[in-house]
Amino acid sequence: MLIAADIALSYGELHALRGVSIAAEPGRILGLVGPNGSGKSTLLNVLAGLQRPDNGNVTLDGRTIPPGLPHVAAQHGIGRTFQVPRLARRLTVLQNMLVGAPPPPGESLWHLLFRPRQVRRHERALHAAAMAMLHRIGLAHQADDYADALSGGQQKLLSMGMLLMGAPRALLLDEPAAGVNPALIARQIDLLRAVRAEGRIVVLVEHNMEMVADLCDRVVVLDAGEVIASGTPAEIRADHRVMRSYLGEPA
Ligand SMILES: Nc1ncnc2c1ncn2[C@@H]1O[C@H](COP(=O)(O)OP(=O)(O)O)[C@@H](O)[C@H]1O
Ligand SMILES: [Mg+2]
Repeated sequence: MLIAADIALSYGELHALRGVSIAAEPGRILGLVGPNGSGKSTLLNVLAGLQRPDNGNVTLDGRTIPPGLPHVAAQHGIGRTFQVPRLARRLTVLQNMLVGAPPPPGESLWHLLFRPRQVRRHERALHAAAMAMLHRIGLAHQADDYADALSGGQQKLLSMGMLLMGAPRALLLDEPAAGVNPALIARQIDLLRAVRAEGRIVVLVEHNMEMVADLCDRVVVLDAGEVIASGTPAEIRADHRVMRSYLGEPA
């Protein structure tokens, strides 16, 4: 279980998060919704160690994740994608996937010099894993294209695949469906269902309410840095106050 307890974070005078608590369970997808500026991305940053909160703490499976240390959070198995995918655009799709892979055990100059066969074997295994992941996300036929050549939706799938190469315990996804065509959203949904079935923890920030209703087991609604509602997608949809006031949809 990934827990954020009583998180507060201010940018100067602006309270981006105030007393926010969420709990995301393994094998479940937790939706995080709310209007622009409500603090969703900031909360993902806190969970991933990219921002240090003023108050509160994050635990994964009962272990405290030290704040503000993204590489430590990653070592604990917490990984996030960004609203604008962070890819190496002048590398190929396959090379990007290899960047997402964890470093080999015992990676060192000593190994390179004196264990070349072991290193080559490891590289072949990584390559096979990267290709398998590309098949899984439907981009294998573009393995040798530059990442730049992919559509925005394909880049989002690639960044999910890169994250999955590290076999994270918890995936934090920031608006994966925004600006993505329906066919690729359907592929994301299939992928996330499979990821959930693997028992991973998923936190999904998304404005696409159809996707949220389709995928999420529970939903937390943020507004102006505070949790204003939580429940099943059906409960949230039936909460007229939330729908009318915060999501801009007719009740
Ligand atoms: N680096 C920053 N400096 C100052 N204010 C910021 C910064 N990042 C975000 N904010 C502000 O914090 C609030 C929450 O932002 P954010 O977490 O990006 O919201 P969301 O992802 O829900 O749209 C917004 O008012 C935003 O303008
Ligand atoms: Mg955001």
